[in-house]
Amino acid sequence: MSIAGPEAPGAPVGGAAEGRVIAVASGKGGVGKTWFAITLAHALARAGRRALLVDADFGLANADVQLGLAPRLDLGAVLAGRATAEAAVLAHPAGFRLLPGRSGSGALASLGGAALEAVLALPRQLARGHDAVVLDVGAGIGEAQRRLVAEADLALVLATGEPTSLTDAYAVLKLLAQDAPGRAPRLVVNLAESAAAGHRTHATLAQAMARFLSRDLALAGVVRRDPKVPEAIRAQMPLLTRHPASPAAEDVTAIARGL
Ligand SMILES: Nc1ncnc2c1ncn2[C@@H]1O[C@H](COP(=O)(O)OP(=O)(O)OP(=O)(O)O)[C@@H](O)[C@H]1O
Ligand SMILES: [Mg+2]
Repeated sequence: MSIAGPEAPGAPVGGAAEGRVIAVASGKGGVGKTWFAITLAHALARAGRRALLVDADFGLANADVQLGLAPRLDLGAVLAGRATAEAAVLAHPAGFRLLPGRSGSGALASLGGAALEAVLALPRQLARGHDAVVLDVGAGIGEAQRRLVAEADLALVLATGEPTSLTDAYAVLKLLAQDAPGRAPRLVVNLAESAAAGHRTHATLAQAMARFLSRDLALAGVVRRDPKVPEAIRAQMPLLTRHPASPAAEDVTAIARGL
């Protein structure tokens, strides 16, 4: 797939106003963060917003793979001083933009010191010229993940109904309450067997938050389990392009509308 130039849809069109940084995190791996972050950026772009997806899953970045892109530049090149972040951003034909995180060398796997600070400064820098910067925050609760979430304007914490996902989402929410007590994260329940089941998952987590942390947990939305999601990923196409009327596409579009 070709890498479009700055005239492509979704490109910044001037104006220094700073957009919103939205971190997508889960603690647990494999619950759909990358797919959701891509689809959210796409839904925001379809709503006319200048949306940028940053693949902040250092070391295991794969948003480019889900999208069938072979980027020439990525975060690794930016950190190595071979490119500016703006130059590494590419425009997807669907209307959103992507800063790929892939580093063939694996050099991003264990970021620390100055490199970590440089990466953490990027979302805010890129928010100038975009309406929304969506971060695909990798699994885990290391310093990089924790700070990406705490420093974002909005944290969307993804969980499924499985107990292991719930405990990991709770751990992320608890750390965020410590790191950034003023923030009000929102929950996204993914892979829900039904909307009602998703609401029950939210109720379970919200009760734990209220009881042990004395905090509310708002629901951003429920995304239903949908066989069209793995099908679109296998085809390396965005769900909203391939199956715009599928249940999961509808659910993410509704979440984007509510942000
Ligand atoms: N709503 C959904 N319905 C059906 N399948 C889904 C849904 N959401 C995600 N999946 C599937 O879950 C799998 C994991 O998705 P994805 O790679 O986006 O997760 P992740 O949280 O980013 O994983 P990792 O922690 O490894 O980065 C994919 O194969 C995808 O097809
Ligand atoms: Mg991922």
